[in-house]
Amino acid sequence: MSDQFGRNDLCWCGSGRKYKKCHAPIKERIENYRLKGYEVPHRKLLKTKQQIEGIRESSKRNIALLDFIEDYVVEGVTTEELDRLIFEKTKELGGTPATLNYNGYPKSVCISINDVACHGIPSDRVFLRNGDIANIDVSTIYNGFFSDSSRMFCVGAVSTEKQKLVDVAKECMELGIEQVKPWGFLGDVGQAVHDHARKNGYSVVREIGGHGIGLQFHEDPWVSYVSNQGTGMLLVPGLVFTVEPMINMGKSKIVTDKCDNWTVRTADGKPSAQWEKTVFVTETGYEVLTY
Ligand code: MF3
Ligand code: CO
Repeated sequence: MSDQFGRNDLCWCGSGRKYKKCHAPIKERIENYRLKGYEVPHRKLLKTKQQIEGIRESSKRNIALLDFIEDYVVEGVTTEELDRLIFEKTKELGGTPATLNYNGYPKSVCISINDVACHGIPSDRVFLRNGDIANIDVSTIYNGFFSDSSRMFCVGAVSTEKQKLVDVAKECMELGIEQVKPWGFLGDVGQAVHDHARKNGYSVVREIGGHGIGLQFHEDPWVSYVSNQGTGMLLVPGLVFTVEPMINMGKSKIVTDKCDNWTVRTADGKPSAQWEKTVFVTETGYEVLTY
C-alpha cells in the first residue's frame, strides 16, 4: 500500500506533527470503518488548521450579524428592511451574504415566520407582527470561507405554546451538538434531536437538513435529524457541519411554495422553529464555531 504523504513529513493538516503521528493512524482507522461498511468522510472534507481558522473568522462575522440584527426585530418592521440591514452590515464587516444569488435565491438572509419552516424570502409586504416567532438565518462568506447560523426571535408577546416550541427547538439543537465527538456517528446527532422533539409532542422535518460547510456553502455530509444512533457518516476530527433541525408543533409534513419555489411551510399550518450552529469535530469532542 502506498501513501501519498511521507511518513516522516509534516502532516497535511497543519498540526505540526509528523504524518505518521497524525493523519496516518487516522486514515487507517477511517479505512477500517469503511471496510466494515460504514459511511466515512472523504479526506477533502477534513479541514486543515488553516481552513478551520478561516471558517472561524467567517463565523465571527456571521454571529456578529445575528447579534446586530436583534435590536431591529420589532413589531412593524418589514423583512425587506431586515434584509437590507443584513446586507449592509455584512459588507461593512468585509463579507458577502452566501445566500444572495445562490441557486437563484434573491436575498441576503432567510426570514421564516410562524408556519414558514425555512427559506422565507424577505419582502416589503411582510411585516413582523406582535406574537410572531421568526427564524433569521444568516450565511456568510468571508475571505472565501463559509459560515451559517440562525436564531429564533420572538416579536412582542408570544403565546406560551409558541414560546415552548422555540425553547424546545433550541434544546434539540444543543442536545444534537452535545453528541458530536470523534469516532461517533452523524446519526447520534439526529437521534438526540428527534428523541427530545418527540418527547415534547413535536415532529421533525425530514426532507431538509444540515450540511457540511466551510470551503463551500453546502458540502457533504447531508445531515438528517430523524436519523438513528450508530448510523450515518463517521465523525472524524476536522469535519465541519451545521446542526439545524426544524421542529414542528404539528405534523412533520412540509410544502414548498409553488409561486416562489423557496418558501417552505408546514402542511398543517402550525408553527415551526429552527436554530442553527456551525460545529466542527475536534480530537476530543466538538467546537461550536458560530457560538
Ligand atoms: N442557511 C440556509 C441553510 O442552512 C440557506 C439555504 S439556501 C437559500 O442552508 F438559498 F435558501 F438561502
Ligand atoms: Co445551513
